[in-house]
Amino acid sequence: MINLAVESKKSYNIMKHDFVTIADLSKDKIMYMIRLAQEFEKHPNRELLKGKIVATLFFEPSTRTRLSFETAANRLGAKVIGFSDAKASSVTKGETLKDTILMVSNYADVIVMRHYIEGAAQYASEISPVPIVNAGDGAHMHPSQCLLDLYSIYKTQGTLENLNIYLVGDLKYGRTVHSLITAMRHFIAPEELAMPNEYKLYCKQHGIKFEEHTEFNDEIIANADILYMTRVQKERFSDLMEYERVKNVYILKNSMLKNAKENMKILHPLPRVNEIAYDVDANPHAYYIQQAGNGLYAREAIFSHVLDISIDDVINDNTIIK
Ligand code: CP
Repeated sequence: MINLAVESKKSYNIMKHDFVTIADLSKDKIMYMIRLAQEFEKHPNRELLKGKIVATLFFEPSTRTRLSFETAANRLGAKVIGFSDAKASSVTKGETLKDTILMVSNYADVIVMRHYIEGAAQYASEISPVPIVNAGDGAHMHPSQCLLDLYSIYKTQGTLENLNIYLVGDLKYGRTVHSLITAMRHFIAPEELAMPNEYKLYCKQHGIKFEEHTEFNDEIIANADILYMTRVQKERFSDLMEYERVKNVYILKNSMLKNAKENMKILHPLPRVNEIAYDVDANPHAYYIQQAGNGLYAREAIFSHVLDISIDDVINDNTIIK
């Protein structure tokens, strides 16, 4: 009996769609997801997921990612279960990730998981009979953030091609930038926080051209279509003295934006600490708050993708609530 159960889960696995890394998606599929997000932006409230249960398992803190996934599930008519702090779960009694995933997959139709171990989402996807959505795994990947970033870039620039996109700050530990790497051209970081070699190798293998800089100045800003700022990820440093040395390395101030191109937008996955001064917030180039808002539509698109709801289903949906 036990073996039969395992076999049936394996055959389910072959058919299910996980969302673990953006690298799994072709360019066409990314554009398809952007079209889906556009449809959801037109009509975010529907009952497309009525009867479904979404589990959100957050082993690391989050504001935007968890709340926007839960909002997306609620706005599409699903019900949400889960935890925002693993200390309130049986993990504190020693339950393994494997057993946690197998238990929750008994209850939910899709699992959204943030975990501090790199590769945890991939592992979960291999053992789970229901789709796994990676909401961030350690310093590794954050593919739903990547999709909302690409959606924000497309929305503000009208294209994802031939843009001067500058990625600024902590490129070593920032998982959002590791997911976004395929869209990037310029990496600005101090030596201590430079883009890790594995991602540069990925770019070289996939013909993605990039330039590395350590300077962050008005000339760079004047050349940018997108300035993607990042926080120095204090929680990933094993040596806090090193964090102290680099924490203020690049701070964007309003006075630095005088020569920015008209179309230039400033993105940030948030939360920010001090890398964007508050006097930038009122500048028309600032887009990071709207960017986080786009997360709702991108995450509605992700639920559609993993639960096999096609763009035709979304366009012809008669469950829209106006
Ligand atoms: N951008 C992002 O992942 O934010 P949270 O950590 O608040 O989810």
